[in-house]
Amino acid sequence: MEAKQSPQSGELHVLLGTEQTFPPPEHFAAQANANDPQIYEQAAADPEGWWSGWADKLEWIEPYEQVLDWSEPPFARWFGGGRLNASANCLDRHVAAGNGDRVAILWEAEDADDPGSGSERDGGRRSVTYSELLEMTQRVANALKSLGIGQGDVVGIYLPMLPETVAAMLACARIGAIHNVVFGGFSAESVKERMQFSDAKALVTADATLRRGEPTPMKKAVDAVAGEIATLEHIVVVDRCGTNPPMSDGRDHFWHDLLDRADPDCPPEPMDSEDPLYILYTSGSTGKPKGILHTTAGYLTGVTATHKLVFDLKPETDVYWCGADVGWVTGHSYIVYGPLANGATSVMYEGAPNYPAEDRWWQIIERYGVTIFYTAPTAIRACMKWGREHPDAHDLSSLRLLGSVGEPINPRAWLWYREVIGGGRCPIVDTWWQTETGAIMITPLPGLTTTKPGSATIPFPGIEATILDSAGKEIERGAGTLVLTRPWPSMARTLYREHERFIETYWQGYGSDVYLVGDAARRDEDGYFWIVGRIDDVINVAGHRLSTMEVESTLVSNPGVAEAAVIGIPDEMTGQAIVAFVIPEGGDGDDMEKELRDYVAEKIGKLARPKRIVVCDDLPKTRSGKIMRRILRDISVGEDLGDVTTLRDPEVVKDVERRFAEQD
Ligand code: WTA
Repeated sequence: MEAKQSPQSGELHVLLGTEQTFPPPEHFAAQANANDPQIYEQAAADPEGWWSGWADKLEWIEPYEQVLDWSEPPFARWFGGGRLNASANCLDRHVAAGNGDRVAILWEAEDADDPGSGSERDGGRRSVTYSELLEMTQRVANALKSLGIGQGDVVGIYLPMLPETVAAMLACARIGAIHNVVFGGFSAESVKERMQFSDAKALVTADATLRRGEPTPMKKAVDAVAGEIATLEHIVVVDRCGTNPPMSDGRDHFWHDLLDRADPDCPPEPMDSEDPLYILYTSGSTGKPKGILHTTAGYLTGVTATHKLVFDLKPETDVYWCGADVGWVTGHSYIVYGPLANGATSVMYEGAPNYPAEDRWWQIIERYGVTIFYTAPTAIRACMKWGREHPDAHDLSSLRLLGSVGEPINPRAWLWYREVIGGGRCPIVDTWWQTETGAIMITPLPGLTTTKPGSATIPFPGIEATILDSAGKEIERGAGTLVLTRPWPSMARTLYREHERFIETYWQGYGSDVYLVGDAARRDEDGYFWIVGRIDDVINVAGHRLSTMEVESTLVSNPGVAEAAVIGIPDEMTGQAIVAFVIPEGGDGDDMEKELRDYVAEKIGKLARPKRIVVCDDLPKTRSGKIMRRILRDISVGEDLGDVTTLRDPEVVKDVERRFAEQD
């Protein structure tokens, strides 16, 4: 990874914290069930004992023999010799404990008043108990088996937010297949790429997904690329919207047909602790997404412990709601595996926060009496913009804890979240982690940690983080590169079929036992961590991780584009926004902007649509022909350009500046 020494310019606004601190509310400290101040010391003194304490809360088919093998870093083996099944831990054991009638998922459609159509849709609200979810999961597992899917096979999942999505993931876990979920907002092209990279054998999708009342076809989009996925044998289609997609004989199957025929009993496969549980593709420094691989026991241990302690979960009484999409790691860890392993009752919402109206989220919190709410700063900022009259119109007094994830939260949004949504009484847990870490790494513990708006505070018990300078020297107070210096159970084990890339990207900066996060961070006088932003070519748009290289290579795949350079600039709403500078291929590039923005949306997904396209005659390059993105960034944020004499043609800068201003 090409590590720059300073954070991307313009991102320093997040460093401007407030002086305010918020001690844990007394009423909260009193009721916190497991957050005992001693745990930090205990975990630091005996990390393996700490983690094995959590692993022991899981249900094992065969006990493990060794907590951790870290003799050849970064090769980590957690809970070696053990056998267990993730779906049995999420479902069967709760049913066996007499909690089968507890609601696992309170599902709410985009517009709950719209009865919709399609056989999978029984109204806009569904409440799925642990027993029901177990039965659905077993049927799906048998259905997959009937299609010839077994242990080690990769199954793609490209679905909207439905209980079926959760069942599909758990069904894979049940039979030892590896799920590869692709966020529903990604394009079919992205699905194709991710299925090709992982040699997926089957894909579970829906006929369509609802977007503001309108069905947007998914199956039809998949059809256009399915022929190019050589390993793909089957497509299973959830009939979400009743749109009658074309079905191809032998290859395509309706979910409900398969489930009707499937046996409701499917014993869980005893999986080795280190057997893969899933792959999740995420953006990296190069154009090619990285297939992060998580294994079974360590991952489950990490998400169970963090979900329980960070959210102070009381499964008997809490109504927990994570507003992320299942297609991201937050959904995997804190909609599916963490909450279900802990026996929680969760709200799952299909739609956007502002459809049909801008009070949709608050309506849901009031209706279900949500007690714990977890969302992203970008969503909080959007709600701020829509106005406090929307939350104020609802009774949000059931809330007792609020969480934030995905990007640095600016103190203004933090304070608004606390006052307007949390009524000043709910602690906020700002949780820092990544797809690679599997579980929350830096976070306050409610009832224990004094919080500061904008800081993710301190590492979770058992986690060791520090900040290094470019020479690898520890920075006690100040900014530098964030690293994790001790292995943890839910750490990624490899990049699927790219182990060398895994080592190079994360484990070579400072030694093979130091995990290179890819973020810059600062540590203050109290030892609190403040995440500044990425130090690689990854940008974070509305909490979504994107690679500037991926957008660049997409742009240059357009015949009208000769060259492109993509940067992220600070954006009040989305944290960062994409600006693309392009040199047209012949012609004058008139009216290219919209076409290119749509092109990127079509190729990658709407989330990658550049906010601005700036058409230029040339780009600032070094004498060796390398595009200097730093200069483009400085132009975009109006900063002093500094030394431009190393450029091949310093005149180009003036032209780019003019174009940037003109095309605003
Ligand atoms: C950023 C999402 C500041 C960070 C769970 C990280 C954050 C990247 C926070 C991972 C936070 C995530 N404060 N920055 N609380 N949470 N990030 O893999 O840059 O989609 O490296 O995982 O998001 O994004 P990913």
